[in-house]
Amino acid sequence: MTPAPEMTARELLDFYLEAGVDALVGEEAVDRFAAVDQPAPAARASLPAAAKADMVRPAPTLQPAAPQAPDEAIMAAREAARTAASLDELRAILEKFEGCALKGSATRMVFADGNPAAKVMLVGEAPGRDEDIEGLPFVGRSGKLLDRMLAAIGLDRTSVYIANVVPWRPPGNRTPTPQETQICLPFITRQIELADPDILVCLGGPSAQTLLNIKDGITKTRGRWFTFNSGKRDIRAIPTFHPAFLLRSPLQKRFAWRDMLSVKKALSE
Ligand code: URA
Repeated sequence: MTPAPEMTARELLDFYLEAGVDALVGEEAVDRFAAVDQPAPAARASLPAAAKADMVRPAPTLQPAAPQAPDEAIMAAREAARTAASLDELRAILEKFEGCALKGSATRMVFADGNPAAKVMLVGEAPGRDEDIEGLPFVGRSGKLLDRMLAAIGLDRTSVYIANVVPWRPPGNRTPTPQETQICLPFITRQIELADPDILVCLGGPSAQTLLNIKDGITKTRGRWFTFNSGKRDIRAIPTFHPAFLLRSPLQKRFAWRDMLSVKKALSE
């Protein structure tokens, strides 16, 4: 997608916004298509004719590493996640993992926030723009609402652990593809196993469907208790509405409030 040359700066910005570009990652634009190792213009003038002729040839195409087939990437993710003996090791392994293409477009990985020893772990779907910039989950508008929901039952980020199914922001905040989700699943599963919370809160339908392996949508499943088998033990799990949904549909907050009360009650049992 190339913008037309006669566009004004304003039109150009609108074009980029519509194309899903909503964050700057550097002060200077980098022309990645420019020929590699081209001498500066002054040096070019003094080059012999044969060398100049070489330079008008198209730049060699940079060959990206062949993307891994999804099945292979899922197997590699399982293998890699299994070897992590601690959350720190898991984070380091995930930083090096190349099997998920989202890593290439994200600014940084968003691993977790909060207290890994907490009794409650909350898992969202994937980072958004603010999370991608800060490298922490739920720090944008929906994160602020999540903080208020937690405060309503006496919790905060020192008493919960927060992560996402997918640790890299999908471009333009699109929904992660089923393949991307499946590739990331072994990592979040291992993260839950290592954190070993007593209660798992799935924030939104995609998180609940992926982690609890269920098909029903969030309206049917929210507020119901499920079991998440971490491989180590059964953990009580409850889906609730995603805070981003609650921002769009504030009337639904009363149901999320009930779910938070269920979490509070379960904590006291
Ligand atoms: N939505 C999510 O699912 N996760 C975040 O971290 C932020 C928004």
